[in-house]
Formats: sequence, structure tokens, C-alpha cells
Amino acid sequence: MDICEVIKVKRDGGKLSEEEIKWFVAASTAHEIADYQISAMLMAMYINGLDDEETAQLTKAMRDSGEKPDLSSIPGVKVDKHSTGGVGDKTTLSACPLAAACGVKVAKMSGRGLGFTGGTVDKLSAIPGYVTALSEEDFFSCVKERGISVVSQTKDIAAADKIFYALRDVTATVDNIPLISASIMSKKLALGSDAILLDVKCGEAAFMNDIEEARKLAKTMTNIGAAAGKRVTAMITAMDQPLGKAVGNALEVREAIDVLKGNGPEDITELSVALAGMMIYLAGIADAPEKGKAMAKAALEDGSGLMKLREMIEGQGGDPAVTDDPDGVMGTASFKKELVSENEGYVNYIRGTIVGMASMTAGAGRKMLDDEIDLLAGITLNKKVGDHVEVGETLCTVWSGDERKLSEALETVREAFVIDSTEPENNPLILDIVTSDMQ
Ligand code: URA
Repeated sequence: MDICEVIKVKRDGGKLSEEEIKWFVAASTAHEIADYQISAMLMAMYINGLDDEETAQLTKAMRDSGEKPDLSSIPGVKVDKHSTGGVGDKTTLSACPLAAACGVKVAKMSGRGLGFTGGTVDKLSAIPGYVTALSEEDFFSCVKERGISVVSQTKDIAAADKIFYALRDVTATVDNIPLISASIMSKKLALGSDAILLDVKCGEAAFMNDIEEARKLAKTMTNIGAAAGKRVTAMITAMDQPLGKAVGNALEVREAIDVLKGNGPEDITELSVALAGMMIYLAGIADAPEKGKAMAKAALEDGSGLMKLREMIEGQGGDPAVTDDPDGVMGTASFKKELVSENEGYVNYIRGTIVGMASMTAGAGRKMLDDEIDLLAGITLNKKVGDHVEVGETLCTVWSGDERKLSEALETVREAFVIDSTEPENNPLILDIVTSDMQ
């Protein structure tokens, strides 16, 4: 096929055939077409869209462009969870152990973070000894014996996505529903779990700011999953202020442990139980999401969720004592500074993007994939939306190993807080639950 002819079809608003899509993905993966031609095609797709059939075909071709681990030797129903990315989102570390404690098998490959949202693998790296790059054999054994394992993506999963994503990132073609859906679902389908729970974030600090757009994304992804024979549900959840009170790697591990001890902030605890409940339901262990939620709540209250996290950490070489004494085992940043309020009133809004950027400035995130990060850096919120604050009270604390970065981060995070004399409305955390039209 001729790449110019294939680009022309989409440039002129036409529909791509399955053969054209398969060829485009295969030729891109084999580096047979130039980056500028791939970018031109992605831009044509961005501008003129892909219908449901084209999106499903693109996802399938991308799924098949890399390796596909075969999880069938692991007994039980394997459920994966994916978040579209949020600030302070450590639910893989809090929800997945709760689900595993109730019998769900969690074989999860996670990425490193880029930008301000942070990756689960970076968070786990803050635990001394924890090995994220397990061999496939050790990964499978950990899931078989302990019910849960979270590792870094070592295999070449959905190889085409790596090429496409890197180009989308620099050609303003990321925020597009068919392209995001194909990117996420190609990886999730390649990873081979039986069911997938998607946490589609919606709000100021998410890809999707608008609930209708978030619903469309959720519907597209659940339809793709169902067409591939998977049980898939999407929960649309609020992502305006950061989730919980901690942003930054070790700080988030500590908070996930607090959640599993029953001492976590309300919002992240509520979301962790809801996500775990849905995973339990998707695994067929509970016959309704509410029943799954009750099981997850019980696993939180009786400490079995915390024990699961401890077992996983131990199974992957990490120091399990981190669950008893997170600060003692992981350490804390050498420097910290508090941001105090200059106004009295209610916290009406905390801009998640600004907190995320400040955390990155403190050293917790990376701009480029091979940037070094400070695992102990980040932000802890002393106040959340709805809290009353007096003049001179602490709004948040910035942590860093570098005093210059600390001061810069403190200046950045100042812009995040909106304080007003009126008490804000209490907005729901779970905005909607979306299933496929085919289920
Ligand atoms: N996350 C992904 O993996 N891909 C996208 O396109 C957007 C978010």
C-alpha cells in the first residue's frame, strides 16, 4: 500500500478499511513509514475522527503489534484496573489489595509516570527493595501464591502505541476520544486479564474536563472491551482537587497504607472501596457491585487488604515493615516548608493541575522519560475543599531533597488554593458508571 493514498482517505473524511488500518499499524511498528507520515495520519484521524468500527479495528491492530502475556496458567478470574490519570491517584495501591483480599486475581503491569500524574511503578520504587521488573515467571508465581502482583511493563506491549503516543504528545493529537480509547484499550487487551475496570477521570486535572466527553470516552472503551469478549465497566470519577491529601511517590505509598489501615482521607477511602467492589463484582465473586463494595469494606475493616499489600511487597523483595512504619522505612525528604493561608474562609477549590506541577517542581515527577525523580518529594495537603481555614493556618506542606526546588514548588502551589467566605457545595466523587451497549 502507498502511505500517501491511505492518508488521503482520512484527510478527505473517508472511512479506512480494516486492511488499511492493519497495514498502517504494522508498517508504523516496523518503521517502514516515516514519523512525519505517521503524524500526518494521526492528525487526519484527530481532525476527521474514526467511527466505532475503525476505532475497534485500530485497537485490535495496536493490541496485536506487540507481545501478549498469556495469563491462562494463573487460576481464577484476573481483573485489571486502569486510571486515565489523576493527581494523587494511588488507588492501585489501595483498591487492588482490597480486591485481592476478596479473591480477585490482580496481575497488573503499570507504567512509569510522565508529567504530573505520577506512575504506580515510581510509587512502588519508593519502597526499599521492591523489584518492579520481575521476570514473567516470578510475576506469575506472585499472582498465583499471593493473589496480586504489580510490576513494570517490561514486555513490548502494544508496540505501535509507544510510537503513536510519542508522536501524539508532540503534535497536539493526544486529547481525542478514538485515539485515547485505542491507546488505552490496546494495552489493556494485550495484557490479557478477563475483566477490566476503567477509572475515567473527569475534571480540571484530567484529560476530560466535561462529563459528556468523559461518558463518550467511557462508552467507546467499554464497547471495545466487550467486542473483544471482556467484562468491562468504567467509573467516571471527579478529578479536580487531588485525590486524598498526598501527591508524590513515598508520600502516596504512605497514604495508601493509611487507607488500608482505615485512617486515610475520606475521598480516597471511598473511591478505593468503590473500585475494589466493582473489581470483585467484575470477577463474579459478588453478584452486584454493592455486594462487592460491602466485601471490600469488610476487607478494609478487618485488615486483610493491608495484609495483601504487605504480602505483595514481601513477594517482590520489598521491606514489608513499610506497612508498620512507612516514614521509618522509606524516609522523609530532607526539607519541608508550609504554605500558610493569607485569608480566612472556606477552601472552595484546589487546582489539581497546579498541585501536580508543584509536586513535579519539588522533584516528584519527570518531564522526560529518563529524568531522575526524588522519591521522597511532593506535596501534602493540610486542607481539602470544604475545610475552613484561618489566617496563618497551613494549607499544604511541600517536601523536597533540594531547597531551591522546594522554594520554587512553594511559589507554584500558592496559586492552587481558592478561598472564599462561602462554604462550597459538596460535589460527588463518583459521577457515573458506564457499561458497554453490548453487555
Ligand atoms: N493514556 C494512554 O495510555 N493513552 C492515551 O492516549 C491517553 C492516556
